[in-house]
Amino acid sequence: MTEDTSSQGRPRASAREVFGERAAYYVTSTAHTDAQVLGRLVDLSGLSPDMSVLDIGTGTGHTALALAPHAGTVIGLDPTPEMLAEAEALRRERGYDNVSWMLGDVADLPWAANSFHVVACRRAAHHFLDIERALGEMCRVLRRGGRLMIDDRTVPNDPDLDVLLNQLDWLHDHSHVRDYSADEWRALCERAGLHVERVEGYTRHRHLSSLTEGVSTEDVAEIRRLLAALSPEQEGQLGLERRADGLWFDHYYLILSARRIS
Ligand SMILES: C[S@@+](CC[C@H](N)C(=O)[O-])C[C@H]1O[C@@H](n2cnc3c(N)ncnc32)[C@H](O)[C@@H]1O
Repeated sequence: MTEDTSSQGRPRASAREVFGERAAYYVTSTAHTDAQVLGRLVDLSGLSPDMSVLDIGTGTGHTALALAPHAGTVIGLDPTPEMLAEAEALRRERGYDNVSWMLGDVADLPWAANSFHVVACRRAAHHFLDIERALGEMCRVLRRGGRLMIDDRTVPNDPDLDVLLNQLDWLHDHSHVRDYSADEWRALCERAGLHVERVEGYTRHRHLSSLTEGVSTEDVAEIRRLLAALSPEQEGQLGLERRADGLWFDHYYLILSARRIS
């Protein structure tokens, strides 16, 4: 795997390499098929059948396909061809003919300004190398008054947990850049010319395997070492449990909706 050693002291792999190797996993992953979260995004989208949607970092298409029955057209964009191949298989299986896929990067979107009523981006923003540029591009292609919906991993306002959760996510996936706190998201959106309507935090209690599946033995050992070194207070903050089948703990997420105001 080629690694970029310039990123925040941690070698970073390209998202395309990481997701190219793991594409099949994302089709059925519990985290990515979470019907409650997908349903919440549908509810917040305010979509109607005449509206257009762009889903950034569409991966295997779960978000695009959840929004499709409520929209006129949906385009899912992703830089990883293997993910889009899985998305196309799912699209055919579900029979949506208003959904198409585009190979591309959020940093350079191939559409004119004011093109979409809704831009969605679920569980992908923590991979973006330049989040301000990504938000600028998402905002540019959004129509004035249009809605941006973000769903992503996040961190609480606790510097130690922030570092720890970002380390765990990088060990899980070397293309990881940063999980942003709710406050960081608000500030980023406001700077991009968006009015934040809503930020909803939520957690999911998951088995350790959700972090370690497909990960090298060396990185799994480091994940275990970091978790074993938690203070009792941090264990409480993460809801860490030692069950017969292994460790379980909380993963932090947020959903944000914002409107383009300028
Ligand atoms: C966890 S998957 C996305 C899941 C998907 N959005 C869903 O709702 O199931 C993350 C995706 O982000 C994509 N990605 C990473 N960097 C990107 C970038 N710079 N621009 C657009 N997509 C990117 C990856 O290729 C990968 O498919």
